[in-house]
Amino acid sequence: MSNIRLEAVSTEGPGSLPAELGFGLYFADRMFSQRYSAERGWHDATIGAYRPLTLDPAAQVFHNGQMVFDGTKAYRREDGRINLFRVDRNAARFNRSAVRMGMPPVDEALHIEAIEQLVKLEHRWVPGAPNTALYIRPVMIATEKALAVRAPKEYLHYVILSPVSPYFAGGFAPVAVYVSNEYVRAVRGGTGEAKTPGNYAGSIAATELAITKGYQQVLWLDAVERRYVDEVGAMNIAFLYEGKHLRTPALSGAILHGVTRESLLVLAKDLGLTTSEERIDFHEVLADIERGRITEVFGMGTGAVIAPVARLGYEGRDILVNGGEPGPVARRLFDELTGIQYGRLPDRHGWTRTLAV
Ligand SMILES: Cc1ncc(COP(=O)(O)O)c(C=O)c1O
Repeated sequence: MSNIRLEAVSTEGPGSLPAELGFGLYFADRMFSQRYSAERGWHDATIGAYRPLTLDPAAQVFHNGQMVFDGTKAYRREDGRINLFRVDRNAARFNRSAVRMGMPPVDEALHIEAIEQLVKLEHRWVPGAPNTALYIRPVMIATEKALAVRAPKEYLHYVILSPVSPYFAGGFAPVAVYVSNEYVRAVRGGTGEAKTPGNYAGSIAATELAITKGYQQVLWLDAVERRYVDEVGAMNIAFLYEGKHLRTPALSGAILHGVTRESLLVLAKDLGLTTSEERIDFHEVLADIERGRITEVFGMGTGAVIAPVARLGYEGRDILVNGGEPGPVARRLFDELTGIQYGRLPDRHGWTRTLAV
């Protein structure tokens, strides 16, 4: 028996979805929510109408920024059914983020059940055009009315859904990346491996600067020595050596444990590549690109899946990767992973859950 209460919501679904969905502009009619209090723990799990939140202006989320979120997707298969991809990994990360921010973890089974039920109820919002998906955004915020910086006693956990196009409008289009020397994203021991808004708020000015200089994303170097590669934008990063060895920065404590990264490391081995997770010196990377040892560079994340890097801007220089074109390995990995996500290829690692609708 489910512990999730269903409120009656009268909706016919979206009718037809816009041809250009963008990213996170439209939202399904229903949302999941539950509340936490120190006395009762998590309670009141409900799927009801998508609606504005009413929060006290003194709610702690607005003052100490206590909030975590996550992001995963539901994919429309060719047979009309819907796949969820490794939601258990996202649920575990959501809780790790919460614990890092001093927030109470949720019951992972209930969190996943809420996502499954919500997606099933809102199946009409799962788009069918190539590379589109229904983005699933779980959130937790501190709602107690109190200005003191201490662990609050009240929280809200909710999940909303948004039909999306690929994160970059060009789909599998190469991106230009600005290597930030002036700003850092996160430091080991800080909150970089938690999915919490401060990491993203702190990145916006740097991304705007990158855009004014003609790039789309920022490549973040480590915060201490400004020498080792951390991430690119809101993606993990990988470097392909001589077409056969994939290197990605180790999970140092400052970077997010990406589910795409984890999955692509497995698929790369399946395709016969070798892989390593280690500290990667950015100056070596530049030299290896210029010597032709690095043949491909790409970002990895749920939004874009794989974003090939065409060009790196560093200290006034522009360094082209693979002549500015996406490489064949990024393409193969993209096809493999999206093949599994959309149910076009066998799911040999047991990563998907197919929802009958
Ligand atoms: C900072 C950051 N790094 C990496 C990722 C990629 O993680 P995932 O593959 O789980 O989407 C994300 C996206 O969630 C992110 O926000």
